[in-house]
Amino acid sequence: MFAVAIDGPSGAGKSTLARRLAKELGFIYVDTGALYRAIGLYMTKQGVDCANAEAVAASLPAVHLSLTYEQGVQQVFLNGVNVSKEIRQPAISMVASVVSAIPAVRAFLFETQRGIAATHHVVMDGRDIGTVILPQAQVKIFLISSVEDRALRRCQELAEKGMETPYEKVLADIIERDRRDATRKTAPAVAAKDAVRLDNSGLAFEETLARAMAIVSEKLSAFGWQPTKAAD
Ligand code: DC
Repeated sequence: MFAVAIDGPSGAGKSTLARRLAKELGFIYVDTGALYRAIGLYMTKQGVDCANAEAVAASLPAVHLSLTYEQGVQQVFLNGVNVSKEIRQPAISMVASVVSAIPAVRAFLFETQRGIAATHHVVMDGRDIGTVILPQAQVKIFLISSVEDRALRRCQELAEKGMETPYEKVLADIIERDRRDATRKTAPAVAAKDAVRLDNSGLAFEETLARAMAIVSEKLSAFGWQPTKAAD
């Protein structure tokens, strides 16, 4: 199986890039952040304090997550209910970051992520894909951009989803999440040694895509992959 791992901090544009790369390559796009978000949503709904690692771990056996793909778009089901839209709320971004620091949560999601990559060619985005989940991935990209660019992008994404949020709030949230994601003890969001760093500060999306495609084509070709444009 071929795997392209896209890691990097919040709001660097990983999901937009990964989704488009998957389409170009004909691979499945796996948004792993959605899994952490669904756990954060579940704990919030159950009134479990996300900062209480023991309480969160004790509640995990009641969580059943599944991913499906509708016309290439990932849908997340939490105990049978499609929560794909609900998990995008800013409040859930924050609790997702909190639960993602809990080792039991990461262990709980490990097999789900590995299982998908064992049976499909994937472009998987997250924080620890190249380091922990798919260390054997043929391509690893660590996507970064300035914190201001990332806050602007997040604001636009939220506005497009009808969730207008002030720039200052988004910026402060990103700085806080970066700090937590990069300094946690288990699987911190850092680049794998063999990852290619791609800084898209100030770059138009098409330029970022072109650079990423060049990296992907070169690396995958070395493993015998042949480009075949996926059907729309
Ligand atoms: O990519 P995202 O914003 O949807 O991720 C939500 C949170 O989950 C983020 O704060 C970091 C965490 N996360 C993680 O720890 N590991 C991953 N592979 C994906 C996301």
